[in-house]
Amino acid sequence: MKPTDSLEIGRGFVLKNRSLLAAMTNKQSNEDGTLSNEEINWLVRRAKGGFGITTTAAANVTETGRGWEGEMGVWGDHQLPGLTNLANQLNETKTISLVQLFHGGMRAPVSINEVQPISASENTEPGMDGVHTREMSEDEIHSMIESFTQSALRCQKAGFHGVELHGAHTYLICQFLGSKTNRRTDDWGGDLHSRSKFLREIIRSIRKNTDPNFLIAVRISPIIEKAGIYLDDSLELARILCGMEIDMLHISCWDVFQPVEGDELGPSLTKRFREVMRNNIPLISTGAVWTSRDAKWLMDEGADIVGVARVGIAHPDWPKHLIDENYEPQRPPFSVEHLENVELSPVFIEYMKRWKNFVEK
Ligand SMILES: Cc1cc2nc3c(=O)[nH]c(=O)nc-3n(C[C@H](O)[C@H](O)[C@H](O)COP(=O)(O)O)c2cc1C
Repeated sequence: MKPTDSLEIGRGFVLKNRSLLAAMTNKQSNEDGTLSNEEINWLVRRAKGGFGITTTAAANVTETGRGWEGEMGVWGDHQLPGLTNLANQLNETKTISLVQLFHGGMRAPVSINEVQPISASENTEPGMDGVHTREMSEDEIHSMIESFTQSALRCQKAGFHGVELHGAHTYLICQFLGSKTNRRTDDWGGDLHSRSKFLREIIRSIRKNTDPNFLIAVRISPIIEKAGIYLDDSLELARILCGMEIDMLHISCWDVFQPVEGDELGPSLTKRFREVMRNNIPLISTGAVWTSRDAKWLMDEGADIVGVARVGIAHPDWPKHLIDENYEPQRPPFSVEHLENVELSPVFIEYMKRWKNFVEK
């Protein structure tokens, strides 16, 4: 198998290659969550660069769950024209287009949302001005599942091929999954099966309400100790999710080459997930891939689809270069001029200065 091979992913879709542009927040959306032309241009440029799948930035399913300024939203019909414009342009490139759905939960500050943050349990997060989250009531959980569903329906109406549920990086879905962030004693907390109920109900509801060919991918973090996300649970979660009607499972590894702490000589994270997953569910793995050799190595470890983020910012035609097995793209830091030439707006370049060593000083 090679990164340039096509892949059938079910629901009648065939990926033209194994590359996926992972979700990247870029702060370019308007105040009301509508897409700006800059955000549309940045994504369409990557899709034209040949990505098999193009994922949008994390997009919020409610107005009051926002994690940061300039965040993309899918909570209202006022966002439909921009979403439709983006979906149309992406789909013309023959990429598979996904919107990443999320809610900030305990990471949705009062300063932005003007309401006390909500989560699975009462939690605090550094940088949240010491404000405790409120534990969500049963009714609020059901209404949140409905918000995810309505947002997915809006994405479908706009013309996207599907959604990726953001269950990683300690946002709301992940807060339900973590044993430290979810200390509920009702049906929505307790063992992994109960902690995953929120995610499972979102999947079930979206599947029930969307068209049969609407794709559902799920992104999870294999390990986040501070939230109580541990590898054994995450592998069990992968098994559970593979028994549901999802189309892809995405593990966010940050560094796919890093050995697993405590079992440094054991298999890679990617290999461990592949071993527990059913073969018909494609595995996407992402983190620190830059070269053709990296991509090939990750596929040899069992990834069906290779996710990239940072290399796709600097090198929008990355997938096209994979034909060259020795391709080694330039690494950071990048000059502002380089980034301007690859369709990054001043707002996005400013944001990338916060990512260590990405932009030249
Ligand atoms: C600028 C930037 C924004 C990101 N925003 C998101 C996001 O909105 N949702 C998400 O799941 N991951 C986000 N990530 C994480 C990436 O999807 C990816 O997992 C991570 O950067 C590791 O991949 P890489 O080494 O190829 O960059 C972001 C990463 C970057 C660099």
